[in-house]
Amino acid sequence: MFKHILNNDFANIVKGRRSVRNYDENVKISKEELSEMISEAALAPSSANMQPWRAIVVHTPEGKDKLRPLVRFNTLQNDTSSAMLLIFGDTQSYLYTEDIYNTAVEQGKMPAEVRDRQLETILSMYPTLPKETKVEVAKIDSSLFAMQFMLVARAHGYDTNPMAGFEVDRLAKAFDLDEERFVPVMIISIGKAKEEGYESVRLSADKFTTWA
Ligand SMILES: Cc1cc2nc3c(=O)[nH]c(=O)nc-3n(C[C@H](O)[C@H](O)[C@H](O)COP(=O)(O)O)c2cc1C
Repeated sequence: MFKHILNNDFANIVKGRRSVRNYDENVKISKEELSEMISEAALAPSSANMQPWRAIVVHTPEGKDKLRPLVRFNTLQNDTSSAMLLIFGDTQSYLYTEDIYNTAVEQGKMPAEVRDRQLETILSMYPTLPKETKVEVAKIDSSLFAMQFMLVARAHGYDTNPMAGFEVDRLAKAFDLDEERFVPVMIISIGKAKEEGYESVRLSADKFTTWA
């Protein structure tokens, strides 16, 4: 991790991020570097550290052909980006909880008693939650992963565009995922800008903040 960082200037990473929709088609990001960025993004926090984000990296011409009819008005990003990251939330992420917590104990990052206590709480609660709550948790956590991925991409010298404009009801099935279990969260295109994104405005903080 962090082998390919080109930009370590936090203010520049955050302030200079723009949604880029048109990419230099000659830039291909290696599988190794994409994997590294995904690992770095996965340092994001999540509810009970259950890490419900799941990713499909669409980077081959065949994958792009399959995705094109599903991305509505976002075909330029699909056709010019180095890759399209399909982010899903796993509503059964608790199936990995024992793995995660056992690894934490093995690596000396958590005492065994804490693991036992937490596993008991998590595994007695999460599987029984209503479906809407499971979907909500998976989407919130996966959105944090998505945001972190976009900032990580900037640190690697790349540009991104988050997208919700896609066929939500068809994406999982098209990529052979169980649509009952995996909920689509967002697609992020990644590549090197051919055309810079335009600067956008933000509400001033006092318009959306109250103090109590
Ligand atoms: C959840 C989400 C969905 C979005 N969907 C799309 C989309 O489908 N197509 C697109 O071109 N931009 C999409 N955007 C990008 C927004 O238009 C963009 O983030 C916003 O205008 C602010 O611009 P900036 O990203 O350059 O700061 C989306 C952004 C978010 C966070």
